[in-house]
Amino acid sequence: MKEAVLRLLKKNRGAYVSGEEICKSLQVTRTAIWKHIQALREDGYEIEARPRVGYQLTGTPDRLNPEEIREGLSTRIMGQNKIFYYSTISSTNKIAQEEGQRGCAEGTLVVAEEQTGGRGRLGRVWSSPRYKGIFLSLVLRPLVNPAQVAQVTMVASVALAMAIRTETGVVAGIKWPNDLLAHGKKVCGISADLNAEMDRVNYLVLGAGINANQQPEDFPVELRDTATSLKIETGRRVDRAKLTRACLESFEHWYTLWLDGGFGTVLSSWKEMSVSLNCPVRIHTLNKSWEGWAEDIDVDGALLLRLPNGEMQRLVSGEVSL
Ligand code: BTN
Repeated sequence: MKEAVLRLLKKNRGAYVSGEEICKSLQVTRTAIWKHIQALREDGYEIEARPRVGYQLTGTPDRLNPEEIREGLSTRIMGQNKIFYYSTISSTNKIAQEEGQRGCAEGTLVVAEEQTGGRGRLGRVWSSPRYKGIFLSLVLRPLVNPAQVAQVTMVASVALAMAIRTETGVVAGIKWPNDLLAHGKKVCGISADLNAEMDRVNYLVLGAGINANQQPEDFPVELRDTATSLKIETGRRVDRAKLTRACLESFEHWYTLWLDGGFGTVLSSWKEMSVSLNCPVRIHTLNKSWEGWAEDIDVDGALLLRLPNGEMQRLVSGEVSL
């Protein structure tokens, strides 16, 4: 009901809506309306109340709640089913996995204002301060072989880099396999957690963390030299809900392209945006470090590394240092 009151106020933005009108169209009492108005104010919405005139929405908070994300969202699947929204949660990935296990529909979105146990690739902590970043997880059910799933994170890296570019002007480059960097510092990380059988994917949780409005002091000291945010890069505050919508729309576009046409189309865009190809790199895998020339990416998304002895090494995962 709170959402319905908000929708009505938004529909009449710039004007007052009388208490009577709200009562009539939502079939609730004046006391109930007042309670919802108070609850919305607690959520950060600025609402003016004038006796005998009504209510007017005068300010919208920077929140990632379903009402804000859905406003003008033009996707067919991503974020169109249930959106699970948390003010604080250990990890959106964890919730998405539970929902995936319960059989939720593809495109189910989990989003949080803060994560207390955000996780990055290779078990690292993902810094997730309240109201600063975008922390989201999407449940996907692609009809592909589990071996192709690494490609999804590369699809996502292209999609999110494009959305960030369009919305903020920040030209983020992709570091293999799916880190987004601005001026050499990490601005967005992407992860994929797979639940599969031998030959089919049950579901996949795609996680994304975008450093949106962090200031340098919002990052832990040990990350300050290697992480940046869109706000640090541009000097402007990011409208997080708008960027989230752009990311969902862009991801749906590239994901559909990948499902329909295969990895080829996406791979060429990935290569154009890459900052870790045709250059010397060091790569740390779980049990070994490699140095060489990042020569190419193959059709499965694996990195082809030319070793100093001329041999080619194929790597399917690892951490690249440039
Ligand atoms: C990386 O290490 O680069 C991947 C980072 C992924 C972070 C996101 S934030 C939302 C989702 N929840 C998590 O705990 N991790 C992912």
